[in-house]
Formats: sequence, C-alpha cells, structure tokens
Amino acid sequence: MCGIIGGTGETPVLPLLVEGLRRLEYRGYDSAGIALPAHGTIWRRRKAGGTRSISELGEGVGDAPPGITCGIGHSRWATHGAPTEVNAHPHTDASGRLAIIHNGILENFRELTHDLPRRGAELVSETDTEVLAHLIAAEVAGGAGLADAVRTCLRRVEGKFAIAVIHADEPDLIVAARRSSPLVCGTDATTAYLASDIPAIHGKADRFYVIDDDRVVELTPGAIRVTDLQGSELVPEEREVTWDLAAAEKGGYPDFMSKEMYEQPAAVRDTLLGRIVQGRIALDQVRLSDEDLRMIDKVYVVACGSSYHAGLVGKQAIQHWCRLPVEVEIASEFRYQDPVLGRTSLVVAISQSGETIDTLEAVHHAKQQGAPVLAVCNVVDSSMARDADAVLYTRAGPEIGVASTKCHLAQLVAMQVLALYLAQVRGTSYPEEVAERLGHLEQIPQRVAAALESADTVKGIASAPDVRDARDFFFLGRGVGRAVALEGALKLKEISYLRAEGYPGGELKHGPIALIEPGTVVVAVATRSRLAGKVLSNVEEVKARGATVVLVVDERDVDVPAVRKLADHIIPLPGTGHELFQPIVDNIPLQLFAYALATARGNDVDKPRNLAKVVTVE
Ligand code: F6R
Repeated sequence: MCGIIGGTGETPVLPLLVEGLRRLEYRGYDSAGIALPAHGTIWRRRKAGGTRSISELGEGVGDAPPGITCGIGHSRWATHGAPTEVNAHPHTDASGRLAIIHNGILENFRELTHDLPRRGAELVSETDTEVLAHLIAAEVAGGAGLADAVRTCLRRVEGKFAIAVIHADEPDLIVAARRSSPLVCGTDATTAYLASDIPAIHGKADRFYVIDDDRVVELTPGAIRVTDLQGSELVPEEREVTWDLAAAEKGGYPDFMSKEMYEQPAAVRDTLLGRIVQGRIALDQVRLSDEDLRMIDKVYVVACGSSYHAGLVGKQAIQHWCRLPVEVEIASEFRYQDPVLGRTSLVVAISQSGETIDTLEAVHHAKQQGAPVLAVCNVVDSSMARDADAVLYTRAGPEIGVASTKCHLAQLVAMQVLALYLAQVRGTSYPEEVAERLGHLEQIPQRVAAALESADTVKGIASAPDVRDARDFFFLGRGVGRAVALEGALKLKEISYLRAEGYPGGELKHGPIALIEPGTVVVAVATRSRLAGKVLSNVEEVKARGATVVLVVDERDVDVPAVRKLADHIIPLPGTGHELFQPIVDNIPLQLFAYALATARGNDVDKPRNLAKVVTVE
C-alpha cells in the first residue's frame, strides 16, 4: 500500500500535498512526510504517529519555505522496517539534495545495496527505498539529468514500485515511474499532478492519464512527458473520471468491503512477492533458525474469528506437507486448556491487526512456557509482531471494512507459504515438489481474479426468492472446505445479521440436520478434493429434507449429473492445482454472497452493528 502525491505548478504546492495525503489516508498511516526542492537543497518534514501522522504533519509544516511550487508527499504502510520517523518517506541521498517517495517492494534491494560503499553512501534507514535515493543521486552526480538517472537505475530494479523523485538542481521537475504499484497523473493549465489514486487529485486536475508499467513520467508545470525505461517517448492514454469525491476515496466502489474484495488478487500477489526465489521459499523476517525449526515436534495455531479459520487450513497444510502434528485453538480458550508447551512446540499466532487481546495473551502465555512464537500479521510492528520471536507479514494493505476479506485471503496464502517453508527446512518434501507447489501458488492471483467474476452469478442467486427470503442458512464443507464453510457462515452473520451455521458435512446428521426444513438454504463447498463426493452425499441428505441448495463446484463439474440433480443454484469456480490451495478461491463467492444479501437488506457492510475492527478487550 502507501499513498503518494506530488505536484509542480505556479502556485504554492504545500496545501495540495497536505490535502492529498489526508485523502489518501486509507492507503496507510504509519507515518507521513513531505519534501520540497527549496533554494538549492531539499526541505523535508516527516511524522510517525500512526493514525495521527497525517494530521500532525499538516500541523508541522508551518515553517516550510514559503511559495515553493513543486513537491512530493507520502503516507506509509510499513513493509520494510518499523514505522518510525527515520523510516518515513521521503528519503534523501547523503547530500540532502535529492528526495524520493516509493510505494511497493524492491525485491533485489539487498543486491543494490552492494554498490553503495563504492559510491560513498551509507543507509540510515531500514527501508528498501533509501537505496534508490543513493543510486539515483550518484547518477546525477556523474552528470546525468534527473530523468535519465531514474531510467538508468530502474533498469536494474526488480520488484514493484511507484516512485516520485525531486532534485534541488531541477526544482520544477518531478520524475515519477511505476511497475505494478498504482500511479495516476493529471494536468490542468498550470500544474502537473501525480498520485497513487484519483482521490488525491480529484477536483484539481482537468485531465487524468493512465500510466503503464515501466513508464517514466517527467512532470513540469502544466505538462507531463512519458517515456519507457530506455527513454523513447510514448503518448499516454487519457482516463475519464466520472466519480464524485466520496466514491473516489473508495476507488470508485460503493464501500470499502467491495473495494477490499477486489483488491484480493493484489493481496495474494503481494503476500508471495519476493518470497519465492528460484523455486524455493525465502523468508527473511522469520528469525527462527533452521536448526530451531527442525527441532519442532508440535505446532499450535492460535487465532480468533476469520484468522482462526485461516489456522484450520494452515493445520492441514502443515500436517500434510511436513508430517508435524498441529492443534488449532481459539485464542481466548488457549491459556485455559493447559496447553503442553516447551522449546520444541512452535506457536503460530494469526492476526490481521496484531492487536487482538485474546491472541496477544495466548502469545504471552506461550512465551512464558518457553515456546517459540511466530506471528502471521498484517500490521507491521503491531504488538504481536513485536512480541513474537518471528513474523511472517501478510501484505494486504490496510483493511478498513470490519469484515475481513483480503486479509483473510492473505492469511491463507501466508499459511501455505509457512507450511511449505517448514517442509523445505525440515526436508519433508523434495525440492522439486516444493517448486511445483509454489508454481501453483504463483498462479493463484489470476484464479482469484477469475473467481471475482462470479459476482453477477452470486448476486443473481442472492436475489432469487428462495434465497432472498430465507432466514436460516447452513454452510457445509469437508476437509479444508470445512474452514471455508465456517468462514462463509461468519461473513453472512456479521454483515447480513441472518442466522448462519458452518458445519463439517459429515457432522450434520449427528444433530443439526433436525433444523433442516423447506426454506432452509444450504450452501455447500464441493470443489474438487478427495472429499467432494462425500460432500455431495451430505447435500443429498439435506435436499431430501427440503433445503434449497447452493453448490460451489469446480467449473469443470457443472454438468456432472449429481451436481445438476442436487443444485438449485450453482457457482462455478476455477481450480487451483491442489485441494489445499482451494480455500483461497472458494472463499470469494461466499464473501460476495454475504455482501449481496447484506446490501439488499440495506446494511452498512463496512460497519456492521455491534462489531469493532480490532478487539482489544477479553
Ligand atoms: C471477521 C473478522 C474477525 C477477525 C477477528 C480477529 O470478518 O474480521 O473475526 O478475524 O476479530 O482479528 P485479528 O485477525 O485482527 O486478530
């Protein structure tokens, strides 16, 4: 995530930057900063204060040199390095005459740092971004113009970026560029603008431009020039913007939940980014040594809510790939079960926020018993990330909707990465097996995008009278599909306020089947797996008792006679190459289903009643 903003024109730029950062706050707020080229040097102000960063920055720019008409600003969602002021953007070179802001991850930044001593530069922050400041400055010192210097350096960069760079020697110029991270540019008669998202410059620019990957943009007052990385000039495509500002802050979506659902391909991709290197997993923030990980003889997963459901899938992945016994426990219960913990038990705490008190207490309990703790968190430097011995960050960006969507998917991916990493370190899978599974994982962002295309089908099902008017819902699944069923039921309860139960299909006849009657809706997850046939048998049982059946199946199975016979409604989905990966895709239509029913009832899906995004009370 991270938000970037910049402008160069004829009027003072500071108000544009402060207001733009405020509008981009939903992209991250660990820290915020502004830089202006002023009188032969760079004036810079940064604040790291969590949610207060942007307002404190706004209050702290009163001493900026007056009348400066060019500048850049950044709001940070930390990925490399703690959310401190020293790590806040903009970063400068050693001379303090160049400043850069960046959204993304430079995958080969360690390699790039090897060049720094030769160039007499030293990193002062823990960020991947700062290395680019030094490299570009060195090109400029060697006689290149700023735009040429940026192009030269970016040809060496691997990873994702949207950057903007200024230099005191060319005080009206901003050089921006992108690969995979969002960047829009705009102009009016006197000013050129750049931002991560339209909202930051909405109502300012008259014209907006789409910037493609590997393009470098030179912004001067009222104009932009676009080239490729070799310097050949290209004509940018103009982009029509018809949204009003309120919609624009949600990227054109009606609410954050739908925006976040559609960010899921990126959340999955970013969680994998830089972690798969030549068919092997590289987890540099997992600070537990290979030796420690080889000694582990039992894994406990602790989490709450959707994070707990990710743990249920993680358990099966670790048991399958690593042949290690795993227990998954609801975090609020963990301490009271007298878990048998020691140096050889690994406790994995999963939490989007990293602040959920029950999970934090479980972590503290595990540490007191001498067990190593690994946190799977989305918020960098959250309490859990700091208290744990090791962290595996999901990189879904800030999640604002209370119902977890993109962070849950990122957790599912992170748990697969962790399971395969343990298999790699402990030698329970051959390297070529790990490589093959990673190959499947790398395809999943496309599968997630394809699953999101089921939105119209799902909306149609949710508006069919036999579903729309129902009051009781059951979600069934088996194996990892059980976790999907639990999560589907939780989503529906949370945002639609309808009664919904998630059940392992085989357990139904041990009691709950008594509740099935005409009018009950059963959503069954029957995508391809060893257990799909058994799920269909369980569906037969509810169908015989009059339930309305919604079947989630592999798109290759829609014409299978048993599916046709049982289903009142069918949701086809793409496969993922392995049944353990299937929940990453199977969750999507269930999110869309809950969303469609909730919005049809007029509910506020971003702020469901009685719920808080972060639960800090026991
Ligand atoms: C459900 C949801 C909650 C959280 C739970 C744990 O949509 O968002 O169930 O998953 O409160 O929160 P974290 O992951 O922050 O520990």
